[in-house]
Order: sequence, then C-alpha cells, then structure tokens
Amino acid sequence: MKVALFSTHRFDRQSFDPANGALPAPHDIHYVEARLDAHSAILAAGHPAVCAFVNDRLDAPALEVLAAQGTRLIALRSAGFNHVDLAAAARLGLVVARVPAYSPDAIAEHTVAMILALNRKIHKAYARGREGNFTLDGLLGFDLRGRTVGIVGTGKIGLNVARIMRGFDCTVIAHDPFPDAAALAAVGGTYVDWPALLERSDIISLHCPLTPDTHHLVDAAAIARMKHDVMLINTSRGGVVDSRALIDGLKSGRIGHVGLDVYEEEGDLFFTDLSDQAIQDDVFARLLTFPNVLVTGHQAFFTREALAGIADTTLANITAFEMTGAPLHPVSVEKLA
Ligand code: NAI
Repeated sequence: MKVALFSTHRFDRQSFDPANGALPAPHDIHYVEARLDAHSAILAAGHPAVCAFVNDRLDAPALEVLAAQGTRLIALRSAGFNHVDLAAAARLGLVVARVPAYSPDAIAEHTVAMILALNRKIHKAYARGREGNFTLDGLLGFDLRGRTVGIVGTGKIGLNVARIMRGFDCTVIAHDPFPDAAALAAVGGTYVDWPALLERSDIISLHCPLTPDTHHLVDAAAIARMKHDVMLINTSRGGVVDSRALIDGLKSGRIGHVGLDVYEEEGDLFFTDLSDQAIQDDVFARLLTFPNVLVTGHQAFFTREALAGIADTTLANITAFEMTGAPLHPVSVEKLA
C-alpha cells in the first residue's frame, strides 16, 4: 500500500526501512519531513494510507484534504491520539489506527531517570564537572527511600513507574477514575482520591492521556494542594499541565522540581534544532530559566526497542487494513468518552 509518512526523522527511516523490508509484501513508503497539517496534507495525494506522529495536526481541515485526495487510513505511530479530530475522521470515513503499547518500559524508565536526575542534580553536576568545578553547593538531594510517589493514571506506563519506584522502597499511591486495584496491588501501590494524592505525594508523576477531562488537570488549584517542595514529572501530554500555573508554583517555591518531557505547545519546539534561534514561546522560555526544571524534548519513547515496536505495529495496522479493511488497533470516536 502507498503510505505517506509525515514528520520523518532519520530514526524513523532507520526503524521503518528494515521492518518494512522484512514483510512478505512491503509497503511503498514515501517519507515526508514536513509536519502534517491542512497545508502540507497535499503531499499525501495518491496515498491511501497516511502515517502521522504526535505533533502532526490532524484537525478537520487537514482530514478533509486527506479524504478528498483519497486517503482512507490514518496510521498513528503513537499511543496518544489527542491530536486527531476523531469525530471529523468518522464523518469523512477515515479509519484511524494507533500503536497502543510499544514499550511502556521506555517511558517509565525515562520518568525515573528524570526523578533521579532532578533529585541528585545530575544535569548540574555534569555541567559543572565539564568546567572543572567539583563543588557540592546546590547539589543537595534527598533519599528516595520512604518518600511517597503519586501516580496519576495507572495504565501500562503508570504501573511500570509504580513498580520501579517500589524498588526504591517508596510508598506508592495512585489515582485513576478507572482503577485496577489488583494490578496496582500487584506492584505494591494503593489507590487514593485526587485530593489525597495531591496532599500526600512528595513526587507526582503524570501518566494519564490528554482528554477534555484531563486538560489542565494540574492547574493552580491542584498545585495549591500539593506539598511544599513537591517534585512534578510530566511524561504524558503537555496539555495535562497548565504551564502558567506551573511557573507560579515554581516562583512561589511550592514546587521544588519539575521534569517535563512534554509541553502544551511543543509542536513548534520539539524534534527541531532551534539552537541558533530565539525561542518565540515566552512561557516555555521562562520554564527553561528555572534551575530546578529539567526539560527533554518528547524523548521518553526513544529507545531501540520502542522504535522497533512502533514500526512493527504501525506496519501491521497498515497490512491488516489493506487485507481486511480494518487495522489491528483502531481508534474509534467512542475513545473520546
Ligand atoms: P494507558 O491507556 O495504558 O493508561 C492511561 C491511564 O490513565 C488509564 O488507566 C486511564 O484510566 C487513566 N486516566 C484517564 N483519565 C484519568 C484521569 N483524569 N486521572 C487519572 N488517570 C486517568 O496509557 P499508557 O500507555 O500508560 O500511556 C499514558 C500516556 O503516556 C499516553 O496517553 C500518552 O499521552 C503518554 N505517552 C507519552 C510518551 C512519551 O514519549 N512521552 C510515549 C507514550 C505515551
């Protein structure tokens, strides 16, 4: 099947080419570097399948162009699908597929890397060491053992983070409107309600999807309930956190550490080399100025195993759609509910 793969980076070719080449009937992949939106959608003309990533904009105008040009399948190479107007896709007869799980370990391990780096100031120590400065002032951390970690969203990733943090002898509490008590108990955690999670956690880690319900879940009111000096980690989706409220929380000292792998307006920032440009997003630029904020550019998924899993599942979705008219992992409009 002819596939237009948008937002192509070198690592996409390195994972998709071998996986596609190993198929009995490889697909005809057209790599497009541009991000997909209503303007670039024309590049998919003649391609029944479009493959999109997290910062492609699959809003109604883009989907209308794709449908008019004959595209029938949107194969997301991500788990999240908050960037797709599913109602518009359904109206236009476009089938949407995703990669529901590719390596929950990759994201969970990056989350824990952020916790450790922020706590023990590894990023600062590295920069100092490069200058021959081995002083310890400003590098003071805390023992993780005995601390309380609050997990928001106990799906595949959240449960993995819970399991790893129990290995540090942390107390793990969690909140999820769709709890799985047996799964959480199996990794040594317990459910609490949302206010209790905010009030009791020394570290809060976000692992829920971005939906209308979770948009700005962490806002000024939530931050006001958090412990003084709390650590907040977001590897889920940027829109779950109100960035302006986060800045206020950092300025007041309520929030002691922030680790962000995602950002509300990351589409114009991440996966791009902006090192010779002025960053135009003042909120993001302000976040970067705090010494206790660590930002990675949507990197949590970026392991060899995850990339291979994404390529395999995406291609399997496309093959299944070609053979049967239905992908292996469809996303339906009901998912929004
Ligand atoms: P999952 O679907 O297995 O689990 C999500 C959990 O969040 C579910 O248990 C759900 O009930 C829960 N949830 C829904 N609304 C909630 C709310 N209001 N409060 C608390 N929990 C809520 O998803 P998975 O695979 O664990 O991924 C979680 C999120 O991580 C994804 O939705 C995606 O946005 C993000 N992600 C980030 C990546 C990165 O590279 N930074 C890579 C992959 C996923």
